Amino acid sequence: MTTIGIIIGSTRPGRVGADVAAWVAERARRTDVEVDLVDLATLGLPFLDEPEPAASGIYRHEHTRAWARRVRSFDAVVLVTAEYNGAFPAPLKNALDFLGPEWANLPATVVAYGNSSSGSRAATALLPVLVGLGMLPAGPVLLGLRDRLTEHGLAFLPHDDAAVASALDRLLGLAHALEPLRITRAEPQAPVEAVA
Ligand SMILES: Cc1cc2nc3c(=O)[nH]c(=O)nc-3n(C[C@H](O)[C@H](O)[C@H](O)COP(=O)(O)O)c2cc1C
Repeated sequence: MTTIGIIIGSTRPGRVGADVAAWVAERARRTDVEVDLVDLATLGLPFLDEPEPAASGIYRHEHTRAWARRVRSFDAVVLVTAEYNGAFPAPLKNALDFLGPEWANLPATVVAYGNSSSGSRAATALLPVLVGLGMLPAGPVLLGLRDRLTEHGLAFLPHDDAAVASALDRLLGLAHALEPLRITRAEPQAPVEAVA
């Protein structure tokens, strides 16, 4: 079984992100694929409050260790992101910043959306962050909201299904190829004094 984490990057009430993520999740679920939909609005992560740099893999707080365990269970991840002021939403950056080794060698697909540039600036801004964390970006899916937002809500275009299906195939291929690297990812550590 392959587990794909799908992270909803926006948290505001009435967000489109939850619908985009549900649409991706529906296409990702297969008999051999489990989807773990992560809603940052309810995950309960505060602003980063770990004293050690995340690269150390040493986490003082249980909310961080719980987040680390969850990310470790992913074989691949889809980051569903809005474009906010030319970049991606702050809660998504915060959730990424919380962890270090858990992201390494994790294949990632960005599904970005926005009004003026179809989320391309959000996807572009995310790229160096993902690479810096050692993730393996598999190429973005971009969705322009102007063509897809109707009075009845979000209506995807016929070619969107093909675009996301091909992105998910690529992601799963990478997940399988990288399996030997993934199992060596570090266990989340508590600092010594917190364990005692
Ligand atoms: C704070 C904020 C900034 C935004 N900035 C941009 C932007 O730079 N480019 C763009 O195309 N759309 C921008 N938008 C429009 C959003 O892409 C659009 O509202 C989208 O629905 C937001 O995602 P969400 O509904 O998941 O929060 C912005 C929206 C918000 C709330």
